[in-house]
Amino acid sequence: MEQPAVIIRCENINKKFKSKTVLEDISFEIMRGEFLSLLGPSGCGKTTILRMLIGIEKPSSGRILKDGTDITNMPPKDRNIGIVFQNYSLFPNMDVYHNISYALSAKKMEKDEIDSKVREIVEMVGLEEHIYKKPRQLSGGQQQRVAIARTLVLNPDVILFDEPMSALDAEIKVILREQLKAIQKKLKVTMVYVTHDQEEAFALSDRIMVLNDLRIAQLDTPQNIYHHPADPFVKRFVVDHLDLKVRSIEESIR
Ligand SMILES: Nc1ncnc2c1ncn2[C@@H]1O[C@H](COP(=O)(O)OP(=O)(O)OP(=O)(O)O)[C@@H](O)[C@H]1O
Ligand SMILES: [Mg+2]
Repeated sequence: MEQPAVIIRCENINKKFKSKTVLEDISFEIMRGEFLSLLGPSGCGKTTILRMLIGIEKPSSGRILKDGTDITNMPPKDRNIGIVFQNYSLFPNMDVYHNISYALSAKKMEKDEIDSKVREIVEMVGLEEHIYKKPRQLSGGQQQRVAIARTLVLNPDVILFDEPMSALDAEIKVILREQLKAIQKKLKVTMVYVTHDQEEAFALSDRIMVLNDLRIAQLDTPQNIYHHPADPFVKRFVVDHLDLKVRSIEESIR
């Protein structure tokens, strides 16, 4: 049976920390298999949205549905949503293999099955030659791929990323972007990607949610956002920024 196109629906979400409102009445849908970026300035609530999706933070009001089921109060472990943090949070004393297999062992899966799953994922993220290395023997980009592999191995329906590339060099970022897109195409897994980097959001996303001032300023394809910015903030924060970047590159190579 064909599964419905919407995987997650957030309805009228408000979020307050004490008396401070950080998100006001936001509603949006995430489509199955899409790559959605959350883009906005520091403090606009990007991480808070991810934390509510995964369940480590609760909305002050409103609800979150996944495949039509209300998950607003469901514990994180029951949601089948994975997350890759900015600092990767790998186990420093375990090699790549065991960093990835750890969560499966906890699920009491057969050893052979664990082994074949881990090796399949390791190959997918291109870490075969590093499989018995510890995190400190890996580059930042390689560590990030371990973090992604560790999430992928649990077959989540949705993977959330919180600025996973902000600590990496420009060159490795571009390579990792391509790898991430390729993994997403292959597995058709829904990805939600937080960034404050306009270029990164444009390079990766099927759709981009631009956040500003407690609300969603625009949620649309990169093309539509660029050509039809919804308000002066989107025009300045996204369109003008990208134009400026292109112009400065053009000038430097003229
Ligand atoms: N646990 C908390 N207690 C109080 N205030 C919080 C808490 N978590 C976040 N905030 C506030 O909520 C707002 C949104 O924070 P959030 O971390 O979601 O922003 P962000 O868009 O991820 O920013 P950045 O790009 O800097 O990571 C900020 O003003 C922040 O100070
Ligand atoms: Mg954040």
